[in-house]
Amino acid sequence: MLSSQHIRTQFLKFFEEKNHTIVPSSSLVPHEDPTLLFTNAGMNQFKDIFLGHEKRPYTKAASSQKCVRAGGKHNDLENVGYTARHHTFFEMLGNFSFGDYFKKEAINYAWELLTEIYAIPKDKLLVTVYKDDTEAYDIWANDIGLPAKKIIKIGDNKGSKFASDNFWMMGDTGPCGPCSEIFYDHGEAIEGGPPGSKNEDGDRFIEIWNLVFMQYNRDEKGKMHLLPKPSVDTGMGLERITAVLQNVHSNYDIDIFSSLIKEAAKLNKNTPISHPSLRVLSDHIRATSFLIGDGVMPANESRGYVLRRIIRRAIRHGYKLGIRVPFFYKLVEPLSKVMGSAFNFSKERKQIIIDEIHLEEQNFFETIENGMAILDKAIDELKLNKKSEISGQVAFKLHDTYGFPLDLTADVCRENNIKINTKEFDSAMAKQKNMARSAGNFKAKVSIDYNGPNTIFLGYENTSATAKLVHILKNDKSVENLKEKEKGILILDQTPFYAESGGQIGDKGIIITEKK
Ligand code: ALA
Repeated sequence: MLSSQHIRTQFLKFFEEKNHTIVPSSSLVPHEDPTLLFTNAGMNQFKDIFLGHEKRPYTKAASSQKCVRAGGKHNDLENVGYTARHHTFFEMLGNFSFGDYFKKEAINYAWELLTEIYAIPKDKLLVTVYKDDTEAYDIWANDIGLPAKKIIKIGDNKGSKFASDNFWMMGDTGPCGPCSEIFYDHGEAIEGGPPGSKNEDGDRFIEIWNLVFMQYNRDEKGKMHLLPKPSVDTGMGLERITAVLQNVHSNYDIDIFSSLIKEAAKLNKNTPISHPSLRVLSDHIRATSFLIGDGVMPANESRGYVLRRIIRRAIRHGYKLGIRVPFFYKLVEPLSKVMGSAFNFSKERKQIIIDEIHLEEQNFFETIENGMAILDKAIDELKLNKKSEISGQVAFKLHDTYGFPLDLTADVCRENNIKINTKEFDSAMAKQKNMARSAGNFKAKVSIDYNGPNTIFLGYENTSATAKLVHILKNDKSVENLKEKEKGILILDQTPFYAESGGQIGDKGIIITEKK
């Protein structure tokens, strides 16, 4: 059986032999791009090259890119645990042309790799093209020789030309273009219809590779401008192609996930391997570890809040299995083994990942029991009264008092066929924000018990530094030491962290001591 690691290597080698430069995965945090929450596709790090704003010494590239699709435009969080193919974190294999080759080569390369190197039987493959893209259609029909019934034209009928399925956009703005998708037929035994049909969402016909013919830049007003040169951006999920080549129908049965699922099952001795919560844990540990590895920390806003939602969703699934103490952090070690070269974090960074997850678990385990009791009671009452919508106030209370993100509550409700009144939830949230805002106007300045010299600010030029710890505060009072896992304020002689002030948001980061 080909391992996922081998499949990744074969992909990169194939394109290297076709004179592509192999580019390492970029961080999951797109520091340079304010339009993106997380890196969600292989092309993100090449955006400026497509737009003609940046030149590199190469015009053809290939990569295996770490991606997260949770929060933001492409969001798969809600589907994890419910389908065979959705993930919050995945690896995207891609080849790229920056004004070099276009549709003909892109299609021929993809076909050659799939049918000759990976040796997939041709009759298991079918494709879609954008409805007006006769050029792509003709290449599939004439060069590749696919019969007409295997080339499905997809276009929107919802009015907007650019809202269709076979027109790929990275976000609301940026490079985009029509695309051609390659599907694998997992066979009649699996439920689902071909692309464009009523039951296309089933798991039988799975999109394995998306070839995007980048031609436009979409601006804030939705206007399309031609790119300097027609280009190519492709993306193939490593997990999906591995499922095909390992002859399994679910991504969760491939080597990476099956070994993580086995480890997760050991956390609680009575869990059968087929339990859906194990799939959720095996997915969420990947997103969690790679996000923390790339510097995202659990927080109450922005990226950190998406991470918190993923971790708490995972903890709730552990709780559902009967686990009542922190457990999730134990999956980091097996993950680092099974991911091979993709998990390229240092030993120190791995320890930070473990500690951060553990801390988040300790915090959430303090409230989850009470929160779950309220939620279970509310659900039981609804069932008793044959109702199927939980009030937004209950969801808000769970959020506000027990740290239950809305999608965690929604996940529990979905298991019970219950919906949340999100309108009520939103209005309770808005009310609370207004109250906090008016209270903030009168807030007294917190004074802390420290009169030493000012910290020297090293930011703007530096994002890391060596510093001396000059003072420790706990609950705003001086102390000698903090115990393990205790929270406090550390005052350093110098720092690259920008402080929160005047409407600015403070920097976040990691402090490592010699002892670690
Ligand atoms: N950027 C394209 C995608 O993510 C290939 O599907």
